[in-house]
Amino acid sequence: MYYKLQGMADIPKILLLLVLLYVLAAEGRRCLYSINSKDDLIVSSPVNNNGFCKSVVEPQGYVCQEHKLTTEDGYILSMQRIPVGRSGKTADKPPVLLQHGIFNDGFTWLFNLPNESLAFILADNGFDVWLANTRGTKYSRGHTTLSPNDKAYWDWSWDELVAYDLPTSFQYVFNQTGQKLHYVGHSLGTLMALAAFSQEKLLNMLRSAALLCPIAHLNQIPSPPTQFAAGVFLAEELYWLGLREFVPRGQAAVKLLEDICHLPGINCSNVMTIFTGSNCCVNSSRMDILLDHEPQPTATKNLIHLAQMIRKGTIAMYDYDDQGENMVHYGQPTPPLYDMTSIPNDLPLFISHGGKDMLSDVKDVQVLLDSLKDHDSDKLVVQFIEDYAHADFVMGVNANQVVYDPIMAFFRLN
Ligand SMILES: *[C@@H]1O[C@H](CO)[C@@H](O)[C@H](O)[C@H]1NC(C)=O
Ligand SMILES: *[C@@H]1O[C@H](CO)[C@@H](O)[C@H](O)[C@H]1NC(C)=O
Ligand SMILES: *[C@@H]1O[C@H](CO)[C@@H](O)[C@H](O)[C@H]1NC(C)=O
Ligand SMILES: *[C@@H]1O[C@H](CO)[C@@H](O)[C@H](O)[C@H]1NC(C)=O
Repeated sequence: MYYKLQGMADIPKILLLLVLLYVLAAEGRRCLYSINSKDDLIVSSPVNNNGFCKSVVEPQGYVCQEHKLTTEDGYILSMQRIPVGRSGKTADKPPVLLQHGIFNDGFTWLFNLPNESLAFILADNGFDVWLANTRGTKYSRGHTTLSPNDKAYWDWSWDELVAYDLPTSFQYVFNQTGQKLHYVGHSLGTLMALAAFSQEKLLNMLRSAALLCPIAHLNQIPSPPTQFAAGVFLAEELYWLGLREFVPRGQAAVKLLEDICHLPGINCSNVMTIFTGSNCCVNSSRMDILLDHEPQPTATKNLIHLAQMIRKGTIAMYDYDDQGENMVHYGQPTPPLYDMTSIPNDLPLFISHGGKDMLSDVKDVQVLLDSLKDHDSDKLVVQFIEDYAHADFVMGVNANQVVYDPIMAFFRLN
């Protein structure tokens, strides 16, 4: 039974994650509006048949190619390539693969104006830019035999993103360009990479990796409203158990948020701050644009997997919470661990994290850095940005100077 919860202790933690849907989706004022305008949110975002390139990239004056790739387990993913800078100059630097986090897709990297968005900035600096979109997101909902309406379509957690989506994306870019790539991951996109690298996978196609808001250990996430949330979630337990696809704009999510917001002591005008920290530098005038694209659905099983990590503080594969079931999947009674100390010491890594980030908590990042303590010192750059929270790294209007310039300098050296 895949969706069995891990006991009462997990429920508020799962809830915490559910509400994270607003993490990158809304800033205070808009969030309040969204919650009050239930009808607005229930309508899930219309599928845009024009494609990602036509609707998002080309209007900004950039060349963009659509690509389709199929994972070994049958998911058909879309990728977009921006091979030419604004000036018309074709990329003369290596490919860069951009991997978004949970509840997001490739749009994350294009949210701001071209001079502020990493994907465009990289293209303008001569890099060959590739945007990944993981299974289940708006432009990656195909499958060779399943449809998103099938329960089986949503039977995955980030283990499968590590085992299938990420390797397929790497291999595809490598095949197309004949070159090793640089990687940039945000949030869950860092966990996917760290897990793969810890198994010494993908390294033969990789030059270097930049990890923004690294998520590995999740033990310290502060979660002030969990006690309020517990009751709400308990009342809805059967409902959540039956959900395979978690649609952040769906009725279930909206209802849940409404319930939370009506609880004493919760001020929903700053839900995003409560859960992610206070983002200093996100352009609040662009929230409507963001909400046209995000948040994106994910698998309920993926959320449960993350909740397991919060509860246990370990980085392990999905726990079926049943020794027999774990035996079937893993050949052992407990889920195998991803061992961060196994990441090769000579892998060029750029890690950037923020002092106000409540998801990629400073103490959790320290645990990750401790496991990298034997890393070659000239291969590890750690950047700490005191006033940055989770969304600032991809959406901050000053991330250009603060984060992206150092990343590109790092890429040029590796
Ligand atoms: C980007 O350009 C806009 C207008 O062209 C300007 O207002 C903004 O400050 C620029 N941002 C950066 C980071 O240079
Ligand atoms: C990469 O190329 C190899 C060899 O041609 C092919 O077998 C493989 O399917 C390709 N993989 C992807 C993801 O394009
Ligand atoms: C909720 O927080 C916002 C912004 O922090 C503040 O302006 C507002 O007055 C607060 N509302 C209540 C009811 O406390
Ligand atoms: C913020 O977004 C608005 C609306 O898109 C835009 O006009 C403005 O230039 C942006 N400001 C910055 C600093 O990027």
